[in-house]
Formats: sequence, structure tokens, C-alpha cells
Amino acid sequence: MAGPRFEPRPDSFEVERYLYEMKIPDETLRGLMERVKGEIELGLARDTRGRSSLRMLPTFVRSTPDGSEKGEFLALDLGGSTFRIMRVTVAQEGSTQIRMEDRVYNMPEAVLTGIASQLFDHVAECLADFMDQLKIKEKKLPLGFTFSFPCEHNKMDESILLRWSKRYNVEDVVGENVVQLLRDAIERRGDYDIDVVAVVNDTVGTMMTCGYDDHRCEIGLIVGTGTNACYMEDLRNIDLVEGDEGRMCINMEWGALGEDGSLDDLRTEFDIEVDQSSINPGQQLFEKMISGMYIGEIVRLVLVKMTNQGLLFDGKLSPELLTRGKFPAKFVYAIDVSSKNGGCQKAHEILTEELGVHATNDDCAAVQRICNIVSGRSAHLVAAALGAIITRLRENRAAKKIQTAIGVDGTVYKSHQLYSRRLQRVLRRLVPESRVHFLLSECGSSKGSAMVTAVARRRVEQRHV
Ligand code: GLC
Repeated sequence: MAGPRFEPRPDSFEVERYLYEMKIPDETLRGLMERVKGEIELGLARDTRGRSSLRMLPTFVRSTPDGSEKGEFLALDLGGSTFRIMRVTVAQEGSTQIRMEDRVYNMPEAVLTGIASQLFDHVAECLADFMDQLKIKEKKLPLGFTFSFPCEHNKMDESILLRWSKRYNVEDVVGENVVQLLRDAIERRGDYDIDVVAVVNDTVGTMMTCGYDDHRCEIGLIVGTGTNACYMEDLRNIDLVEGDEGRMCINMEWGALGEDGSLDDLRTEFDIEVDQSSINPGQQLFEKMISGMYIGEIVRLVLVKMTNQGLLFDGKLSPELLTRGKFPAKFVYAIDVSSKNGGCQKAHEILTEELGVHATNDDCAAVQRICNIVSGRSAHLVAAALGAIITRLRENRAAKKIQTAIGVDGTVYKSHQLYSRRLQRVLRRLVPESRVHFLLSECGSSKGSAMVTAVARRRVEQRHV
């Protein structure tokens, strides 16, 4: 049965007026790019790093895969939209072949905000289940751990949690080495053994996974539940690490940008409200304007305000629309497609079936435009921050032009048809002197920690040859 037909009205005057501040002109984005570049410099230097809102954390990952890696590895991915365990087999029969088997496990809400032993016992139990299913409990396999939170490293198998972000807020983990907490939990069970070789951020995992297929890959980007990026910096510029030769991957933790007030001119009343009702007010302010955990909530707050003023749904709110979290990011992606592809139709379905409001054609067109502006702003902010990294890499090479590749993962980037196009279009305008390839990875963040482990193993073996 054919559904109602809607004529799109892209330019509803009220929506444009309401969201005027979210349509950021290129000139302002260029200014932001410069600010991020400045923060990168501050964050890399020993004396000024405390003044940067970017953490700029050295990862001790010095080289990307060269294709000669092989073996059987386990990967554990914690901190994204899913908790995933994976076996990665890298074989070389003429050419390199990578086989993956994975399982997604539940992460109960109570564990996310519980205590350390609960979290790591749960992880160890899921790992036991995975190994049972694959009948590999007898083997002591090397494991790579993707742990997607800001951590300080002194070596590859040590990762001290600096603070939680996103939905996690587990007691007694901040300041601890998460590898040790995992090892302890496995030891408490005593039914299998594991060799935890490396722990990496998801951005680093993604860069490494994509680096396997394209050796030019030197940036990792996540736009998912949270957002962040890493890139290969010249060692001579990293004050915290000895040595001048070669490069090292830096986890920027760009989600924290703006915590010093430097984004106040770009933050709207909706961003302020999202932050204040979050579990970590005042933190991760850039992330809260961009990532999947927050963009739906921004849209919901705009809808509530416009309805209260009688501009939508005949001024009638529903209990769902008034409930925090009832407009998840997946609604934004579903609605933010062209009307030809059913954007308005989808808006009608969601508004009536999920949010219990009575939506007219004009309401649907307005909601479509709101989703469009909020998600467009997210893509443009990411483009500006990426532009800063690309310019940095170009300057490091003292080159006029640069060709580079970025490995990307994350539900917002991957599930949203228009997102990548918008991001890439603005990036081309901001850094016209660059040619950038975007590489999408299948489970990149999880697979990547296995790749880091494989590279580490290869380097050790080569040293012994
Ligand atoms: C948050 C975390 C960061 C991670 C990002 C994407 O910003 O702090 O470590 O990379 O989310 O998952």
C-alpha cells in the first residue's frame, strides 16, 4: 500500500532562523582548523602540553603493516557501539590472506557504571565463551586489545586510563593499567591463558587495518558513538618520547577540544543543554557536537523547543519527545536522506510511530531539514579538524601539496549516506592543496589491535632472525 506523498519544503524559514548558528561558514571552519593546528603544537611540546585541550598521546605504534605479518591472533574491542571479540588469522600463501571470525557480546548497563572487577570479569567470561566456541582454549594466543578511551602508554602492553568517556563510568579504573586488570580477571578464572601483546585506541586500530591494504594510510578517524583521530607524527616533534628518527602514531583525543572554552563561539544553547544533562558535564565538548551518542539528542532538543513555541506538531508535545535519548542517531541518518530516497516519508514514520506526535507534511519537511543541518554541522566540524592534521603532515614534509589516506570507522560515518560526501566536499575546500583517499574498513577498530599485535610480533621475530 502506498504511503502518504510528501512534497519537500527544504527551506522552512523558522528552521533556518532557529539553526542559523549551526550553519558554520567556511571562513569560520578555516579559523577552527587554525585553532586545532595550534592545539596540536601545544600538545606535542613538553612545556605547553598542559595548555592544550588535545591530549596528543604517544601510542608507541611506530610502523604500519608491511604485509609480511602472519599468525593467529585474538582481538578484543571495548568502548564503541558494540563489544566485540574476534579471531584474526593472517596467512601467507603466495599473497596475504586475512580471515576473521567474530562475535558481538552484550555489555549490560549495570556493568558500564559498576566497579572494575565486574567489568573485567565480564570481559574475561565473554572471552572464555568465544574460545570455547572456537575450541581454542588450550592455545595461548597473542591478543590485541582495542580500548577506546584516553590512555597513557609507556609501552605497547600498558595502558593507563586517564578518564572515561561516552557511556562508561566504571569505578576504580582511572589511573590503572587496563591490561593488568584484564590479566588479573583471566587469572582469577584460571581456565585459559592469553598473551596480551598490545593495547590500542580504536583510531589506531582503524589506521592499522586500513594501512594493511594501503600503505599510504597515516591517519585514523572514528565518527561513531564518540569521535577521535590519530596520525603519524615525526618523532623529532614528540617531546615526550626519546629519539628523532622515524614516526610514531599519536592519539589526539580530539573529542576533548573546547574544554578550555575555545569552542564557546560555536556552541549553541542545544549543545550546552546536551552537555549539562550528560554524565560528564564540561568534558568532551567537541565530541558532543559531532558523535552518534549526541546528535540525535541535539535534534530532539530543537524539536522540543520549536514545539513549545507552537512551530511544530501543532504545539503538542508527546511523552516520548520529552524523554532524553528517545531520538537516537539512527533516526537522524534515516531521515537525513533526500526526499527522492524517502527522507520525508521516513520522518513521518518515525515521528508518528516512534515519537507519538501528529506530523503534517510541513512538520516532516522541517524535521528533515533539522536533521540535515545537525548532521551537516557534525561533518563540517570533522572536516575542519582533519584539515588541521593534513596541513600538519604537509608541513612536516615541507611540501606544497600532499597525497594521503585516512582509515575511517564508526557508525555515523558508515551508516549515513550523505555524511561522507559532505565531509569530503568541505575538506576539499578547506585544504585544496591535498588529495585525500578515504578508506573504509570492515571492523577496522577491532581487527586493528590484532594487526598491531601482528606487527609487534613480526618486529620481534625479525630482530631474532
Ligand atoms: C572517545 C574516546 C576516544 C575514542 C573515541 C571514539 O572520544 O575518548 O578514545 O577514540 O571516543 O571511539
